[in-house]
Amino acid sequence: MSEKTFAITSALACALIAPLALGQNAPVLTVHVDQTAAKVSPTLYGLMTEEINYSYDGGLYAEMVRNRTFHADWSGIRYWYLVEDGTGQARLDLDKQTGPSAALDASLRIDVQKADEKNQAGVLNEGYWGFALRPNTTYEGSFYAKADSAALGPVTVSLVHNLNNQVVASTTVSGVGTDWKQYHFTLKTGAIQESVENHLEITVAHPGTLWLNLVSLFPPTYHNRQNGNRIDLMEKLAAMHPQFLRFPGGNYLEGNHISERYEWKKTIGPLVDRPTHPSPWGYLSSDGMGLLEFLEWCEDLHMQPVLAVYAGYSLEGEHVNPGKDLEPYVQDALDEIEYVTGDANTKWGAERVKDGHPQPFKLTYVEIGNEDQFDRSGSYDGRYAQFYKAIKAKYPELQLIATAPVKGTRPDVIDEHYYLRASQFFHDANHYDKADRNGPKIFVGEWATREGSPTPNFGAALGDAAWMTGLERNSDIVIMASYAPLLVNVNGMQWETDLIGYDALHSYGSPSYYAQVMFAGNVGDERPEASFDGVDATNPKLFYSVTKDTRKKKLYVKLVNALSTPQDVEIKLDGAKVAKTGKLTTLSAAGTQATNTMDGPKNIAPVESALKDVSSDFHHTMPGYSIQVLEMDLQ
Ligand code: AHR
Repeated sequence: MSEKTFAITSALACALIAPLALGQNAPVLTVHVDQTAAKVSPTLYGLMTEEINYSYDGGLYAEMVRNRTFHADWSGIRYWYLVEDGTGQARLDLDKQTGPSAALDASLRIDVQKADEKNQAGVLNEGYWGFALRPNTTYEGSFYAKADSAALGPVTVSLVHNLNNQVVASTTVSGVGTDWKQYHFTLKTGAIQESVENHLEITVAHPGTLWLNLVSLFPPTYHNRQNGNRIDLMEKLAAMHPQFLRFPGGNYLEGNHISERYEWKKTIGPLVDRPTHPSPWGYLSSDGMGLLEFLEWCEDLHMQPVLAVYAGYSLEGEHVNPGKDLEPYVQDALDEIEYVTGDANTKWGAERVKDGHPQPFKLTYVEIGNEDQFDRSGSYDGRYAQFYKAIKAKYPELQLIATAPVKGTRPDVIDEHYYLRASQFFHDANHYDKADRNGPKIFVGEWATREGSPTPNFGAALGDAAWMTGLERNSDIVIMASYAPLLVNVNGMQWETDLIGYDALHSYGSPSYYAQVMFAGNVGDERPEASFDGVDATNPKLFYSVTKDTRKKKLYVKLVNALSTPQDVEIKLDGAKVAKTGKLTTLSAAGTQATNTMDGPKNIAPVESALKDVSSDFHHTMPGYSIQVLEMDLQ
């Protein structure tokens, strides 16, 4: 560039930037730090989950074997295939005559006609789009089995690389008898390259018949829990500072039909006593993530459970009439609450103790159903009232959430859901600013800016952040909020725009995920009086929230700039002295379509820097397309 061109370019740049930098027309954020406008709910940010997008099976729940209980459809026993090495010969069938338990009353029958040490025969499982194997790692496995005679010999269990058929880890299980019994084994990898291109083989070296069910393999889990969760995903969730977990759904609670609802009693106790059930998202749920596992997940991340109970409406429009018909469902909910909160002297509390958790769980919120506005029969008023009366009679301290407006009973809390585009959230960011302060409290139990697939792009993160500023400003009535859906296996998505993506081996947070981490990790307990003047109300693109942490003596200013250009903001702080230097956290991108992916997991991630020259009246310039948290120390 010539000197002249440089001079002209610089002059032009100064002319363009100057008004912003000088802030002549900059919007003014005025904060009266010593004047409290409202409390911020301590439970504002939490998680909502259900079995969708392979969230648990093939996701958080660390089981590696897919279809471990051998369900078959018209295409056969899915994800299981015959292995015939060399001259080995065998045949696979679903045997409906025998299984290890009343819940699992069928099994895989392997008839081996020909086999020897070098020419084994049996089955393989392809896993959830592979088996993720890491170097020097121990995998804990088990299966239920029986054989027609001892002549079948030991069973070999191996992890095998898909591409070169090399055995990565192997062991044998001896002494399989003629009655059903569970056998345990361990597989250890050596100095391998981590990879997902692996499968599991179960073979024998002699002719005979082997029956199998509940074939299971787990990698190391979070907090080393048996039947536990994936470490990388749990760590990502922990970083979101969640205060609650809403479970088990969502549509997953309701099922397509009443017979396919989430029946919690079939999800507790030993895995062999869990029959599994169809999820409304098109695949079978193993129910390995059962009621106690949900509660232990809460325990691990210090979240409180928000327990949704089935309330007599299923997705295909079936409903249970209030009154006598509904009574068993109400009783089921009472039993469920007792399982969660009861001591060893109660029937269901004792059941939980038997399942390995002596301590009752703390429960404050119970949600009655899910999205019952879709029940066109109008039965929700009566159904809600019946649940409300029965639960309050036994547990008056519980807060009961309605999933739609109800007549006749005043709910403690109403769950509202929002799935919108970024521009809609920009226009709706002040949705609760004028909401009735005397009505029920609000739980925004599902919300998301739906732009980007499988996970949200930066444009969606801007919509999310704008919306969250409104939630924080109104957290006196919005007591809880949770993004949905939370998880997606990128190989098996049913619902676009999900917060965290993964395959069997790796995971990544979307830009929206990082926006959540920033918001939930930097929120105070009070909202001081504040106003934002000089912003364009007709085409809102700038958003703010201010909270104060009275214990840590911190002030958090959150700013969102959904414009492509930098934006100057004048910040006036009165009523308190603030340290000159603070911390600035920035999430920004060059464009709205920029995003994170499996291959570029941190294309967009928060960047921390020093916030300098803070005073009672200072200017701050936000980059174009940015979400920022200004953390300041109150003196
Ligand atoms: O989050 C996906 C689905 O959206 C939930 O299952 C349901 O509650 C809502 O309609």
